[in-house]
Formats: sequence, structure tokens, C-alpha cells
Amino acid sequence: MTRGADGAAWLAPADEEAIEWGARILRDGGLVAFPTETVYGLGADATSAEAVAKIYSAKGRPSFNPLIAHVADLDAAKREAELPPAALRLAEAFWPGPLTLVAPRAAGGSVCELARAGLASVALRAPSAPVARALILTAGRPIAAPSANRSGHVSPVTAAHVLEDLGERIDLVIDGGRADKGVESTIVSFLGERPRLLRPGALAREALEEALGAPLAAGEGGEATILAPGMTASHYAPRARLRLEALDLREGEAGLDFGGRLGARQGAGPILDLSPAENLQEAAANLFLYLRELDSRGATAIAVAPIPPRGLGEAINDRLRRAAAPK
Ligand code: TXA
Ligand code: MG
Repeated sequence: MTRGADGAAWLAPADEEAIEWGARILRDGGLVAFPTETVYGLGADATSAEAVAKIYSAKGRPSFNPLIAHVADLDAAKREAELPPAALRLAEAFWPGPLTLVAPRAAGGSVCELARAGLASVALRAPSAPVARALILTAGRPIAAPSANRSGHVSPVTAAHVLEDLGERIDLVIDGGRADKGVESTIVSFLGERPRLLRPGALAREALEEALGAPLAAGEGGEATILAPGMTASHYAPRARLRLEALDLREGEAGLDFGGRLGARQGAGPILDLSPAENLQEAAANLFLYLRELDSRGATAIAVAPIPPRGLGEAINDRLRRAAAPK
């Protein structure tokens, strides 16, 4: 285990000792960043308002934006929320995995009001990454965890990204290598008449609709709509300006390519290809990594090649639009 520079968090490889240690910090009300299959999460004891308050202040996140509570399995989720039959069907099909369910909180649920931002609903996810599962089970309670980045910034897919953003503000980062899906979970709300897609993510809409046997309601509307940074214009943003649907590189621009469309150009910056083979899963996994990489290479403007809207392309395009929105 190594101590990061200048009072930064402890960084520990993801072994049993680190999980024991992380669980102890969580039970004592501290902050632990850990890998999930989507992105790194910034965890705190979801049952403690005092612990959850530290998440909001470490991230600079407005406290009207509720957090996802991570649970070990469906049984734990049932103690926290009133899950209607369609939600149970999705949980059975896709948990553990990159799916978050929003439902009315259960009477006697343990997720604290601050984690829910005062709402009568709760967001629940059972992650599949072994480190995340082990941490939840060892802590013995739901873990509230947003993505482990400063609010508004690109989500972290490596422990190094977490240290860059939050190093001095948290206690421990458990390093489990790269988060393999690379974009956040898909969020489905069960507060309205029909299941609603609140955020496209690492689980494609097509798979959910097939399991439900019906299309998901989309977009805003209904009493369930809340204002949240992850759903508002500027979010997931690198420092550089983004130009979307680009078919070429202009002078001074770096490139974020897909399928080798952007030709090199004199006077232009580096080009990173999300997936030369046009594989959307690979592109999702590389998205935040490459945005951070272009930022660190000093890019000030990035031309982004078109990404097809099907499958994981929906989540990729959603994040790109937010990253491109005026700050
Ligand atoms: O993959 C993920 O979902 C990652 C990993 C760490 O699990 N977490 C993540 O958390 O992306 P965060 O906080 O960055 O995004 C959670 C989203 C926010 O947009 C929040 O508004 C929404 O979930 N959310 C949480 N509770 C909600 C509720 N009761 N109703 C509607 N939206 C809710
Ligand atoms: Mg986030």
C-alpha cells in the first residue's frame, strides 16, 4: 500500500485486506472510492447522514441531487424499496449488473434521507464487480456512491483518475484496475405509470425493452422528474471544447474518432479512436479514458466523429452531448 503525494488518499490494491479496511472506514463514516463494472464510485455508509454529507462536500455536488445506494442483491433491495413486478423482472434479468432502479422507498428502509435528497423514492443498484460486491457485503449495509469525480467532471474509470479529482478529500482508493464498461449504469424509474428511462447507460435500452416486453417511456415529464446534474446540460465535461458529429479535423483540433473517419491533418492535434472496429462496447469503455487523455495532452478543442445511436451508442451520445454543452 502506498500513500499518495501530499496528504492524498491511501491507495490499496484490491485484495482482501483492502476490502476489510475499506469496510471498516465505511462503517466509521469515512469515504472509500472503489471500482464497479461501470465507473469508480465514491462510497459512504448510505444509512448515515453524516457520512453521506461528506460525499456531497468532497464532490462539490449539490445536495438536491440524490445518490444511488449500492446493495448486494435483490433481497437487500426489497428491504429498501417497494419494487413493482416490472422492476423485479429487470432485477432478476440484469442484477448484479449496470442497472439502477428508482422506486418508492420502503417503510423501514435504511437509506438515509440525505442520500435520497429528501425524496420519497430511492435509487438502488447491485453491482457485479467482485470488489464492489465484497465491499458491500463486508460493510454489511447499503453503500451510497456517486461516480468518484468532482461534480460536473468526466467520470473516473481508473484509480488514478479518482486520485486526480479527489485525492486529498477521501480516505482510501481501492485499485481494481480499469472499470471495464466505462459508462455509468442505466437508470430506470418505476414511479410513474410506465417504466421510464432516466439515464441511458451501460445496459442498452434494447435489452431492457426486450425483458419488459414493452418500450420504456423516455425523456422528462411526470411528477418523478427531478433536476439532477447527471441529467442537466453541462456534465461529464473535459476542459476542452467538443465539436460533435465531426467529419474532419480543423486546425488546432484534437480528434476523438470512431471507426477511423477523422483523417490526420497538418496542424491538428492527436487523434484517439474509440473503436477502430466500430464496436460500441469498446467505444463506451474508452470514452471517459480518452476524454481525460486528450485533456492531459493539452487539447483545447476536440472534434468527435459521429457515433451510431443504437445499443450503447445511446449512452455514449448522451454523455458527449452533455460534455459538449456550454459550461
Ligand atoms: O454506474 C453508476 O451508476 C455509478 C456507479 C458508481 O454505480 N454511479 C453513478 O452515480 O453514476 P451518480 O451519482 O453519478 O449518478 C446517479 C444518478 C443521478 O443523476 C441522480 O440524480 C439519479 O441517479 N438518482 C438517484 N436517486 C434518484 C431518485 N430517487 N430519483 C431519480 N433519480 C435519482
Ligand atoms: Mg456522476
